[in-house]
Amino acid sequence: MIKIIGVSKKFKNETAIDYKDMTFESGKSYILLGASGCGKSTLLNMIAGILSPEKGSIEIDGKDMAAASQKEKDLFRIKNIGYIFQDFKLITEMTVMDNINILKLEGVDTSKAESVLESLDMLDKKNKKVKNLSGGERQRVAIARAIVKSPDIILADEPTGNLNFAIGEAVIKQLTEISKGKTLIAVTHDDRLCKYFDYVIDMNEMTGGRYDA
Ligand SMILES: Nc1ncnc2c1ncn2[C@@H]1O[C@H](COP(=O)(O)OP(=O)(O)O)[C@@H](O)[C@H]1O
Ligand SMILES: [Mg+2]
Repeated sequence: MIKIIGVSKKFKNETAIDYKDMTFESGKSYILLGASGCGKSTLLNMIAGILSPEKGSIEIDGKDMAAASQKEKDLFRIKNIGYIFQDFKLITEMTVMDNINILKLEGVDTSKAESVLESLDMLDKKNKKVKNLSGGERQRVAIARAIVKSPDIILADEPTGNLNFAIGEAVIKQLTEISKGKTLIAVTHDDRLCKYFDYVIDMNEMTGGRYDA
């Protein structure tokens, strides 16, 4: 279970976001909707331990990650969190398989790479360079890389942002299917995708305290 309690994040440019308390149950899927700039990516980054809140706690299975050292957070993320970044963070000059195997540098076991690519209909593309793939295919490589380590928690930031609706919907179906039994938190602009998730959270309402201090 992930609990957001009394969290407030302030950036150096003085933008401050106050989050209402939220709970994400283990094994459930959540879709976060909300206007650009309301604080969706910032929330994912705090859960992933990439950003720290100024105030409040981010409890994951009872442990306050906000209070942990950066090293502890990094180790926790590498082991337990699959993060699908908005811009994918793929190395386009490298092949699909090499983009997954690069995780070995962090000590991640990538032995399930082939079966994960298979489940995303991408196994036949495993030796292609990412620069030669379509947007939907790149998105599926990013998903494969995030889930190959079988993380308990999957964070996805606008996984369909650059895709047309039909392809985006297919990607979301695959993502939710493959995330069954895990905690999935996905950000999107598209409320037509809500039906694939257990819970919908309107982040405009959860960050009502946002202000430019
Ligand atoms: N690294 C940063 N430095 C300064 N301000 C930031 C930074 N990241 C985000 N912000 C600000 O925080 C607010 C929330 O950003 P973000 O979480 O990216 O929104 P969303 O993902 O909902 O579009 C915005 O006003 C944004 O400009
Ligand atoms: Mg964002």
